[in-house]
Amino acid sequence: MFEIKAKDMRGRVGVLKTKHGNVKTPALMPVIHPRKQAIDVKKYGADMVITNAYLIYKDEDLKQKAIDEGLHELINFDGPVMTDSGSFQLSVYGDVEITNNEVLEFQELIGTDIGTSLDIPTAPFVEREKAESDLEITLERAKEAVEFKKENNIEMLLNSVVQGSTFMDLRQECAKELSQLDADLYPIGAVVPLMESYHYKELVDVVMNSIMYLPDNTARHLMGAGHPMVFALAVALGCDLFDSAAYILYAEDDRLLSTRGTFKLENLQEMPCSCEVCSKYTPDDLRAMPKRERRDLIAQHNLHVSFAELRLIRQAIYEGSLMELVEERCRAHPALLDALRQLKNYNEDFEKYDPRSKKSAFFYTGAESLYRSEVLRHHQKLLEMPKKRDLIVLPPGRKPYSKFISGKLGDFYIYGDKKELDLDNADFMVLDIPFGLIPLDIDELYPLSQNAAPKIRDGDSKQFIKNFFKDFCDNYGQVMVHSRINNDLDLGLSEKTDEEIRYAKDDVRKLKAIADYQFGWGCGEALFKGNINVEKSKKTGKIRHIYDGKTLIVNMRASDSYLILSKEGARRLHASTAYPKNRVVVNKDSEPFALDGKSVFSKFVVECDENIRLNDEVLIVNEEDKLLAYGKSLLSAIEINNFQTGQAIKTRKGFKK
Ligand code: GUN
Ligand code: ZN
Repeated sequence: MFEIKAKDMRGRVGVLKTKHGNVKTPALMPVIHPRKQAIDVKKYGADMVITNAYLIYKDEDLKQKAIDEGLHELINFDGPVMTDSGSFQLSVYGDVEITNNEVLEFQELIGTDIGTSLDIPTAPFVEREKAESDLEITLERAKEAVEFKKENNIEMLLNSVVQGSTFMDLRQECAKELSQLDADLYPIGAVVPLMESYHYKELVDVVMNSIMYLPDNTARHLMGAGHPMVFALAVALGCDLFDSAAYILYAEDDRLLSTRGTFKLENLQEMPCSCEVCSKYTPDDLRAMPKRERRDLIAQHNLHVSFAELRLIRQAIYEGSLMELVEERCRAHPALLDALRQLKNYNEDFEKYDPRSKKSAFFYTGAESLYRSEVLRHHQKLLEMPKKRDLIVLPPGRKPYSKFISGKLGDFYIYGDKKELDLDNADFMVLDIPFGLIPLDIDELYPLSQNAAPKIRDGDSKQFIKNFFKDFCDNYGQVMVHSRINNDLDLGLSEKTDEEIRYAKDDVRKLKAIADYQFGWGCGEALFKGNINVEKSKKTGKIRHIYDGKTLIVNMRASDSYLILSKEGARRLHASTAYPKNRVVVNKDSEPFALDGKSVFSKFVVECDENIRLNDEVLIVNEEDKLLAYGKSLLSAIEINNFQTGQAIKTRKGFKK
């Protein structure tokens, strides 16, 4: 029902499959008013819409027409249609004249693609008791809906909405309980009041405490989110669907949406974008128009900017620049900046979803970038790394650092107690923003060279790398710090060494270090034994192919310097690591397909190494750990385990004789 096509952070470009067609996500469903709709939303980019089953049910004419001709005919839309149940009316008026079963039955009767049970949207910041008792009813009704669907053999897909107000444990509990049901989609509810009151930080908490406990293989709908200002942030948290009444409600109110906020027509001297409406009319033209005509034009603009933002977001996911977009968007308002800063609390979770390597470089756009999952991931790797005896710390230069470093490296200060220096048994690392320490042997790996930070450094990031450096130094014998770092970071060191420090390049040592970082410590020795030949690109001088004699072991990918296995490389890696490290384990049924070099689908995977991330090179084995094939992972470990549809591994080669 839902497949992932591309990923960045927790964000996904996916396909949602319904009986009225497929929808590319992240998607925006404009809210269609069953009686008053004046705008043809399809014309402005809507592939899917949402309308309100309760409003149709309550109106005798609409109800009869919907029953006779079907919902799609009623609202004149032939794509997928989602319906809401009257829960929102319940939250506004305190009561509705329909039961859970009645609204479910009605939605099925009129041919909804995705129906919703009658959840209770509990407002933020209510008394705990209220949140608990509401939640009990919401959960009961969700269960009732699933039973109703099963008993009546119903095709309609089912929404089970996550509630729990602003109590994070209740959101978690609700998400966990709903996940046990066989619902089709799990929207996140009651967030509209948070967004309307600019509680974006709390929005992050509510979304994360729901999403972390929901399955990854369903589309997540952030209910009532229709302001393009929050789309990028919400997508990065893992939301796939949005619905917007905002486009028309704001238009009724003479307000124009933009990714920078909302503009009141009365304050506009200039039109805010380059859509058809903004190109054709001036603010004065609009102000002089009759109300309805003006409203429809503003609604058109509002739809245009909303769909344009979603296109931009999907493009950002394809190229791996979603966080750069989020960081940009979250500077539109201080409350959004709070939301961005709040992401720090969830970076361990984000790391589990973020692709290992991306097409675009990592851009440092401010101190918030220090808490991105790429930085955390590198620090976790460094902390696992066996340390050599001594550490030489170098200042940053042109990237890749190792390419431009040679000869005598300059003046060094002694950090900590003075001991004997052993340059043959030393780690050489560059200290830079944002990644902290970057070992010279692996500096070409994504994103350690594929990143950029401003030359004028801010205090937060200086403090950040200084703290990391101090913690990391702890277990070294002798630490030497380049004089420029001593000055830049005010380390206050005074004792210099008179020893001449040089960095000697060594391709095989470098390859082993990369293999260790990529596949685990010790894998370098195992992969690169024998008569190692390194073949380089004549044009760029970069390592391309590595052989043992004439047998290819690995290729090095030019874009991110990760090692790509050959048959021999896969065999060596398999022999030197223990199950399930670096492995995706498939069941008996899919064994012949894997051996044949066919790609691996998620549903055939019985187990996999929890450290696998999108774009990793992996071994494909059976449950007896027989090596069947090897390939590139298209998902993270958690997602591979979660999905029952779609590809998990793009197989490079199978081991069929
Ligand atoms: N629309 C906006 N918020 C909600 C919600 O919490 N539940 C339902 N069913 N619809 C909504
Ligand atoms: Zn416009």
